Amino acid sequence: MNSEPDYHNTALKFADGDIPSGKMAWRSPSNIALVKYWGKKPVQIPQNPSISFTLSKSYSETEVSYSPAVSGSLEMEFYFDGQRNSVFEEKTANFFQSLSDVFPFVNQLKFIIRSQNTFPHSAGIASSASGMSVLAMILCDMERQLFSTLKNDVDFRRKASFIARLGSGSASRSVYGGLVIWGETEVVSGTSDLYGFPMNEEIHEIFTRYQDTILLVDAGEKKVSSRVGHGLMNSNPYAGERFKQAHENLSELLQAMRDGDTATFIRITESEALTLHAMMMTSQPYFLLMKPNTLQIIERIFTFREKTGLPVSFTLDAGPNVHMLYPAAIKAEVKQFIEDELVSFLSPLGFIDDEVGKGPEKIL
Ligand code: PMV
Repeated sequence: MNSEPDYHNTALKFADGDIPSGKMAWRSPSNIALVKYWGKKPVQIPQNPSISFTLSKSYSETEVSYSPAVSGSLEMEFYFDGQRNSVFEEKTANFFQSLSDVFPFVNQLKFIIRSQNTFPHSAGIASSASGMSVLAMILCDMERQLFSTLKNDVDFRRKASFIARLGSGSASRSVYGGLVIWGETEVVSGTSDLYGFPMNEEIHEIFTRYQDTILLVDAGEKKVSSRVGHGLMNSNPYAGERFKQAHENLSELLQAMRDGDTATFIRITESEALTLHAMMMTSQPYFLLMKPNTLQIIERIFTFREKTGLPVSFTLDAGPNVHMLYPAAIKAEVKQFIEDELVSFLSPLGFIDDEVGKGPEKIL
């Protein structure tokens, strides 16, 4: 286990009468796990390492205005899609408050936060990953600008990933572009349970431009929150084996991704998706998060792959939507496949044509 970086810093506080005002904005993407994180220990420590693709078009865009708090402690207004949102406001204020030892300055400020997503939230697309990572980027950027710290990008990203993890485990991976591991694995040195680790150098070219078309079967609210889902793993009878399997899958998947071996990539990622759902089906209480159209699409993908020999596969998040994964070189064939065979199974929201992305971006 890596030792905890000591991010407690009482110096990150403004002198009385010298509290600044300003504004900044970042965009941060969601990610899709290939080996899943499902099950955790306090505080936000994963039971197994996970690996994901950071996405490109599915992101949160958040603007934070700050000014001296009149009450002398943290104040916040949170607007989501232009509307004041009390749920997000409370959640974000609690998150900021919980970081008082790391960023003591938060208690001196009033925050006005305006956020929006490019995709439906709580639909099993990891909105917490983009939403929490964007806040982590902003807090670290505020520290960097206002206290002249975190000059080195490695330190900046690592701290942002550490902070994002405390908001939502999967958010730790969204701080980096491309393929990202979160959780200590003996097969990659430098990985940690405390922050994400970018893997891009060693990956075969086919996976650097991989496509993820997110087929929105049902864009309603999630049936089970990931907090509840992770908790169910504490009593799931298969949990121990599952955590062990995730280590093995990660190691084998990584080798396949170095080699450009799409057959092994497909076998492992599809099995991971079904295992995640199997864990929820075998918990008490149990949850069935697929919809009939989720299965229709999966069956069509199997048949299409068999018929054409093209490396099209699926993965799932903790919900009914299907992430269809494939190399950029077969985009045209897959587009035709969606039009011919899949659109009738989709909700009115249709699909999001996404792909591997570069990670968060500062916009103001
Ligand atoms: O970060 P959380 O607590 O929302 O958990 C995410 C869990 C999955 O999305 C189902 C899997 C993963 O590794 O992202």
